[in-house]
Amino acid sequence: MIVPILDDVSLTKMKTAGHLLAEILASIEAKISAGISTLELDSLIEKKLDAAKLIPGSKGYMGYRHATCISLNDEVVHGIPAANKVIQAGDVVKIDVCASYQGYFADMARTFLVPPVNPNVQRFVNVAQMALDKGIDEVVIGNKLSDISAAIQQEVERHGFGVVRDFAGHGIGKSMHEVPEILNYGSPGKGPVLRRGMGLALEPMITMKGYRVYIAPDGWTVKTVDGSLAAHVEDTVIIADNGPMIITRLGRG
Ligand code: MF3
Ligand code: CO
Repeated sequence: MIVPILDDVSLTKMKTAGHLLAEILASIEAKISAGISTLELDSLIEKKLDAAKLIPGSKGYMGYRHATCISLNDEVVHGIPAANKVIQAGDVVKIDVCASYQGYFADMARTFLVPPVNPNVQRFVNVAQMALDKGIDEVVIGNKLSDISAAIQQEVERHGFGVVRDFAGHGIGKSMHEVPEILNYGSPGKGPVLRRGMGLALEPMITMKGYRVYIAPDGWTVKTVDGSLAAHVEDTVIIADNGPMIITRLGRG
């Protein structure tokens, strides 16, 4: 497997995409409240992408028609924005946006909680975030790919939650999805060696109970089999000389 190494011009474009995406998701947070539909959220985000000269990677991808994926509660990922999907009090809302700037991509997802927030659900979402951070800690030159996978799984299972197996993170750069596939589980020390200039999108998908999932009749939405809540967070990380550079967080990289 040949993992693309990005030159500095490409990396700068990805950073621009990542920083703009992070700003857009931060600016949308206040809108995520009871009564708004996921289609309205998607439209707001699409307008902001357009104003920032970002092109959504999902729109037109394998027939997908929207700029974002918005997944509620037991939906894990790839929820299709819809006018009749209206956010309710207490919902777990996952928003995933991938976009390019001058042909280079960044990919990002966050899990938002609509008040009133159940403390157990807050803890669950915190674990998804911590697992992502543990994975990112492994994104260093000389590590093996599956060191990332193992770190994520360990953190999730240590807290008694489940890791979804059927979907994974991915390389990213000139395309939304590049090699390698980055599993969120596995034993360390396997796969390609991580090198300077690789772009990786890490995205743990975790469940409160069983990790088994299925695809809903709409052909996209991934849901938990047992109906348990799911969380999903994603950042795009560039492997730099001085460690992981997270390009989808404000005030970083
Ligand atoms: N943003 C997703 C990811 O994290 C990809 C979008 S799936 C699509 O890889 F089908 F909606 F495009
Ligand atoms: Co992704």
